[in-house]
Amino acid sequence: MVKKNKSSTVSGFYKFPVEKRIEFVKNFSDLNEEDIKLFSSCLEIDIADRMIENVLGTFEFPLGIAVNFLVNGKDYLVPMATEESSVVAAASNAAKIARVKGGFSTECSEPLMIGQIQIIHIDDIAEAAKKILEHKKEILHLANEQDQVLVKFGGGAKDIEVRILDSPLGKMIVTHLIVDVRDAMGANAVNTMCEALAPLLEEISGGKVRLKILSNLADKRIIKAKAVFDKEKIGGKHVVDSFLESYNLAAVDPYRAATHNKGIMNGIDSLIIATGNDFRAIEAGAHAYASRNGQYTSLSTYYKDKNGDLVGELELPLAVGIVGGAGNIHPKARLCKKILGIKTAQELAEVAVSLGLAQNFAAVFALSTVGIQKGHMSLHAKNIAVMAGAKGEEINKVAEQMIKEKKIKLDRAEEIISEIR
Ligand code: MEV
Repeated sequence: MVKKNKSSTVSGFYKFPVEKRIEFVKNFSDLNEEDIKLFSSCLEIDIADRMIENVLGTFEFPLGIAVNFLVNGKDYLVPMATEESSVVAAASNAAKIARVKGGFSTECSEPLMIGQIQIIHIDDIAEAAKKILEHKKEILHLANEQDQVLVKFGGGAKDIEVRILDSPLGKMIVTHLIVDVRDAMGANAVNTMCEALAPLLEEISGGKVRLKILSNLADKRIIKAKAVFDKEKIGGKHVVDSFLESYNLAAVDPYRAATHNKGIMNGIDSLIIATGNDFRAIEAGAHAYASRNGQYTSLSTYYKDKNGDLVGELELPLAVGIVGGAGNIHPKARLCKKILGIKTAQELAEVAVSLGLAQNFAAVFALSTVGIQKGHMSLHAKNIAVMAGAKGEEINKVAEQMIKEKKIKLDRAEEIISEIR
């Protein structure tokens, strides 16, 4: 029987008590009682102790759910691990607006990663480069011998590229090994292959191999998302125009582009962390890709379509995996993948790029209209209330009073608490 795709739309989700939110996610993603227990548990110390060195304990982030996501016609609840207030709400609101015109649509390349093997001290660079290319079949064969499982699943080393680079220490060759990593992030598979190839490449080139490592500029593993934001839903033609004026600063100015792209990564990183993926790899790849034409610029583009609606597009490399790595060890990362209901790394990347676009739209929309502080205030006020010692019901009361007075300060929160008590 084909399972009907449940809707991820829900209004007033943020007002639900935590138990009711969990109930909604449980029904959407068919979670069991063991899964539910995980929400309030910490990573076991034994697991943590095997993940990194010198462990003392664990460090928690809030885990939220972004609702309303429709990606390629399928509904998703998107888990987000982040310490930043407003981010989850903003993504959910943007996804709700995008739904009006059909949600997000994505395109992606094959999951190809690049491994770099640096060869130095070569007498005849041009001749060595030619010879490496002539030995392509042998090189790919040796690389694929290192990971028979990957090859069995249709992946493995597929191609090589040879680049000659000038450096202050003289000319060198960098051989790129192009590996289809299927559902893995790929670092382990690629690094193992690169290391195994070193003696062969030294023999072919007559040089000395130095670095053998994956490149985080994964520009052969590109993912694109597109969404149309209905002009009436966002406040009419003047809002679309204001949005485009704001966006254009990011297109031409690296100072703004860095902040604009940070907004994109607010979304993407939260999902990458929640699924146990390497967010530093994603960050490095994204920002390097943003400079691909010689000047750092916006990763997203916006324009008006013939109806006057706002169209947003986001393109970046996303080296994410659903097998191997911390995402397989960390129980909550496994739970987050279950909540998403994703079957492949590509599907995870499709949700991630859509989330990045939603987050970016939400930030630029807020900046072009009311500014971002308004959205931040409510949670900020609650945090101040808690810091001042408010408990239970008091927290909302103190926060609301401070917002009303436009005075969100620790001393005022303390005063209000004693007035209430
Ligand atoms: C804050 O975390 C992110 C923003 O600065 C992004 C942006 O300016 O586009 C709001």
